[in-house]
Amino acid sequence: TPTRLADYTPYNFEISETRFDFRLDPKATRVRSLLKMKRTGPGPLVLDGEAIDLVSVEIDGRQLKRSEYRLTQDKLILEETPDVFTLNIESKCNPSANTTLMGLYVSGGRFCTQCEAEGFRRITYFPDRPDVMSVFTVLIDADKTAYPTLLANGNKIEEGDIDGGRHYAVWHDPFLKPCYLFALVAGEFDLLEDSFTTMSGRSIPLEIFVDPGDAPKAAYAMDSLIRAMAWDERAFGREYDLDRFMIVAVRDFNFGAMENKGLNIFNSSLLLADAETATDMNFERIESVVAHEYFHNWTGNRITCRDWFQLCLKEGFTVFRDQEFSADQRGAAVQRIKDVRALRARQFAEDNGPLAHPVRPTEYLKIDNFYTATIYEKGAELIRMLKAWLGEDMFRKGSDIYFDRLDGTAATIEQFLACFETASGEDMGQFMRWYEQAGTPRLTVRRRRTPTKPVISQVVSFKQVTPPTPGQPKKAAVLIPIRWQAIGENGPLMEPQLTVMTTKSTDVSYPRFDEPHSISVLQGFSAPVILNSDATTADLVRLMGNDPDAFNRWEAGQTLARRLLVDFAKALEAGKMPKTNPALRDYCKALGTTLNDPQFDNAFKALVLTSPSSMEVLMEAAPIDPIAVHEAGQWLSRAVADALRDDLLVTYKAMRDKTGVFSPDAEAAGRRALKSRCLALLSARFDPLAASLASNQLDNATNMTDELAALITLSRLGGQRVESSMEAFFAKWKDQPLVLDKWFSVQSMRDHADGIHAITRLAETPSYERNNPNRVRALVGGFSMGNTKLFHKLDGSGYRFFADQVLDMDSRNPSVAARLLGAFEIWRKLDPRRQALVQAELDRIIAAKPSKNVLEIAERTRG
Ligand code: ARG
Ligand code: ZN
Repeated sequence: TPTRLADYTPYNFEISETRFDFRLDPKATRVRSLLKMKRTGPGPLVLDGEAIDLVSVEIDGRQLKRSEYRLTQDKLILEETPDVFTLNIESKCNPSANTTLMGLYVSGGRFCTQCEAEGFRRITYFPDRPDVMSVFTVLIDADKTAYPTLLANGNKIEEGDIDGGRHYAVWHDPFLKPCYLFALVAGEFDLLEDSFTTMSGRSIPLEIFVDPGDAPKAAYAMDSLIRAMAWDERAFGREYDLDRFMIVAVRDFNFGAMENKGLNIFNSSLLLADAETATDMNFERIESVVAHEYFHNWTGNRITCRDWFQLCLKEGFTVFRDQEFSADQRGAAVQRIKDVRALRARQFAEDNGPLAHPVRPTEYLKIDNFYTATIYEKGAELIRMLKAWLGEDMFRKGSDIYFDRLDGTAATIEQFLACFETASGEDMGQFMRWYEQAGTPRLTVRRRRTPTKPVISQVVSFKQVTPPTPGQPKKAAVLIPIRWQAIGENGPLMEPQLTVMTTKSTDVSYPRFDEPHSISVLQGFSAPVILNSDATTADLVRLMGNDPDAFNRWEAGQTLARRLLVDFAKALEAGKMPKTNPALRDYCKALGTTLNDPQFDNAFKALVLTSPSSMEVLMEAAPIDPIAVHEAGQWLSRAVADALRDDLLVTYKAMRDKTGVFSPDAEAAGRRALKSRCLALLSARFDPLAASLASNQLDNATNMTDELAALITLSRLGGQRVESSMEAFFAKWKDQPLVLDKWFSVQSMRDHADGIHAITRLAETPSYERNNPNRVRALVGGFSMGNTKLFHKLDGSGYRFFADQVLDMDSRNPSVAARLLGAFEIWRKLDPRRQALVQAELDRIIAAKPSKNVLEIAERTRG
């Protein structure tokens, strides 16, 4: 039975003080807890617990008899308790056998934890819900040689040696927190240290703990952390609160990272980087995730969620904050474009398929399944709209009220919005619909060119419709902030306008202009909607050249490309060759103009030269053969490369590094991005030029960005050099797990001559670690999301292999397995033959009696 938002009731006890005493042992860790309980409502005391052994329960020092409590699969129930009492529980768990990587587990011989959302119950019996907050004191006792470093949340208040070669440490966290923010780490680490002085003058030691030998690779994360701490003070007035801040990197981790109070735990792939082993994209992600987890200290920890339906309260706001940070550090336009590209590829796919759900869902089977692009990325878009609508000053005023009013509480979306209502006086009723309605609104814009004379004004009309989603057949109008502007041959003809649309349709007028002009709509992507515009090719070319809004300059090119790709894909599906046409020629010409314009930066040019993702085209052309969509992309690249060959080659050469010194900064990364883009486009012509450029680049690369781009190009080109290059890369990097992940992912996306057999062999090589989420995501995730030809092969072998891998992973790690299964969410967009094949696999998965996690995704996907 699902958990429902409507069923929320407060917990019937308060825990004024919490003490945990851990005696660490990989096979049998003993946990003693002491909880100071106070009854606040009627009913039994119910504690959560899973996969742990209960040793004893005491109330006020008296051990309970077996008949005095009830034990079920996942609960410990005490029917009768005093109103105020001390509860002592002793339990045992087995961290080394914990393959779910939720709760307490062992990774690389070190103990670590992951408790969000419901992992704490695998550690000991406790009310595992975010609205039960307490002050925690934690004692850890472990073998001193094997586990020299002992960490938990807060400040270290005591440590020392004990008999038998063991030692202990006591940690105290003075801030109220729910148990999902608990963390414990023990093991041997190298330490990278620095410090930050806060705005009130407190000096905070910063410590990053990594596997021995990896400390230099944490330098960029440390630098990012310091910049993030300074930015949060500037942008939101938020200061750090504890005496120290710690980050730990672990290799086996289900997600990206976790914001545990004062002790963030990171997937090492989002923390460790240097020029030789990490790409620019890795550096960029590290900067943003380090900031994200740090920002959670206020949006997530100081103010947490009342229940898991409110997940977007912390995640949407925190993603918005990390996006703004990245925009500040790396350039707003480029950052916005990247965020919107990701939103369209992932969130729009989710919002327009069987897994569509509101930003604040109303029911779930497993909350792990709701750490989605909708809650994170669409959640962030809602905050961005709030800011666009209310304006910068009101937005800041509202967030100040929020931090002030709700500090130390577990809050709801309603309470959050009420702060902005207080600040601005605006009614939040309609805005709330964004949280309650699933689905991507379609915004249609039509220009009315009225012929009546004399024309004093012209009109643009907007209409909004949100299509039905599972369980929500009828949708109401949402509040849409629309930024727009009329653009002429030489730039804007008016100031940018903000129209706040609150009804199903609305008309806006603007003064008459005699010169030809186009309307730039949704500048900066001011709302997460699908725009259906009547812009002509001439309009779009004009906007590509003249729109002062850099996002829409890029977007105009994307719209042109999307139209071409949909046409190409439909032609290819029908067995026809796509034809060159005037729109294609105009598009290529406009790309050339942008490429050669010195006023644009290189990162922006690289994005203009990147066409819409296959996912975007698939959604627009559905139902369709996905291989036709893939080939349409290749056709377009080839056409661009044919038209711009010389410019691309000149640019490629001009972007090569001449300094010989690697820098991960935005400028240097932008040069490498444009260079890689030129190489990728040139390779679409399948001529010897691209092969020799790529070979050269691979042989001479001094950083992973160049090395990997060259390897990927060679692997796409095929031919003799591929096998030997893949082997050489493997041999060179076999001792670097994060680079080996890249190797697996490139291999998983190749169009191997012997098809699925090659992928199956990869899954059988000794270096394929089937318990490690990063490795599994590299191979299985890479294959399902990045290998169009083999995954979607019409004999069904790709889907079958994938389903087998999901089931195999599910037997050990349900949350990662369920997430992988998301690759099937697009199945209704495929042609009927493939739909039947996917459906059969979904049925097979359901029949195999999988975990709750996988069952929920499989059933909802199937519909
Ligand atoms: N709160 C973490 C973050 O966004 C992610 C935790 C993921 N947990 C989960 N059950 N999926 O930074
Ligand atoms: Zn987060």
